[in-house]
Amino acid sequence: MEMRIGPYTLVGRTMLAPMAGVTDLPFRLLCRRYGAAMAVSEMVSARPDLLHDARTRLRTDHSGEPAPRATQILGADPLQMAEAARLNVDRGAQIIDINMGCPAKKVCNVAAGSALLRDEKLVARILDAVVAAVQVPVTLKIRTGWAPGQRNAVVIARIAESAGIQALVVHGRTRACGFSGTVEYTTISDVKRAVNIPVIANGDISSPASAREVMEITGADAIMVGRGALGRPWLFTQLNMALNGFPVVDEPPAEERKRVILEHVKNLHVFYGRRTGLRIARKHIAWYAKHWPGVSLPGLREILAVEDADRQLLLTDILFD
Ligand SMILES: Cc1cc2nc3c(=O)[nH]c(=O)nc-3n(C[C@H](O)[C@H](O)[C@H](O)COP(=O)(O)O)c2cc1C
Repeated sequence: MEMRIGPYTLVGRTMLAPMAGVTDLPFRLLCRRYGAAMAVSEMVSARPDLLHDARTRLRTDHSGEPAPRATQILGADPLQMAEAARLNVDRGAQIIDINMGCPAKKVCNVAAGSALLRDEKLVARILDAVVAAVQVPVTLKIRTGWAPGQRNAVVIARIAESAGIQALVVHGRTRACGFSGTVEYTTISDVKRAVNIPVIANGDISSPASAREVMEITGADAIMVGRGALGRPWLFTQLNMALNGFPVVDEPPAEERKRVILEHVKNLHVFYGRRTGLRIARKHIAWYAKHWPGVSLPGLREILAVEDADRQLLLTDILFD
């Protein structure tokens, strides 16, 4: 059965996870082209003084992105979150995703993100306020709880369902676990059994085999991939094939990958402007290089030090040969 979020029928069961500093418009478009059914924006703060910030505007730019366009918001104040949701719908978001998964101690000066999971009443107030504020579907991204002894993902999932949240992403780690340790997919399957809204499994999925395994263990409706897609936007095609029961397909030929890398770097220069684009492109080039057998490490080091956008592009062309 196809997965739906509100009025949107998703094409496929793989999604790109929101990653601050990574899932900007150029990278989201690339992952969508390779089959990600949805790609959530970087988180943006609900703080009123940041809503009109130029960087916030860039993070929520969805120009040319196919539906459904999802913007993630972060905050701990129900009224501010409601206002941020409304504003982002006005700016083109077709889905509002709420971040209750970020492990940072203080995100934007408030105990937001996964810190909220300890305060179930506040979770309910935030979800109620955001759902009431907008006509578009609201989704929620959580961890399994605050710490291994305090896993309340199932309770939060029920709160979310009764608040009218239309899909739930669960990163299978507690806040205390950061990004280390194994992901506990069993909690995700507990969540899946507890609610009737779509549940999306997240955490450490980086291959067709792990995608299939996580779908099987959790019974989730879809999977969300973050770090596995860095330097490999074509992974989504491979995951989709695997989830549809086809044999594992190879990644695209080197010529295609190279063309995509150069296009990505160029797009970053245009999207951010040459100075900032050059800096953002560095990490993507390094991730692409990680997956490029036999890449020249001195060549990579030279690119990462370059201060001119055209030269960065030229050296990238030479590196991926
Ligand atoms: C660099 C980076 C930035 C992230 N930024 C966000 C974010 O803005 N919002 C969010 O909900 N999660 C964020 N996450 C968490 C990811 O969405 C995801 O839940 C986590 O990385 C686990 O999935 P993975 O193992 O597939 O990477 C971030 C993760 C990374 C590595």
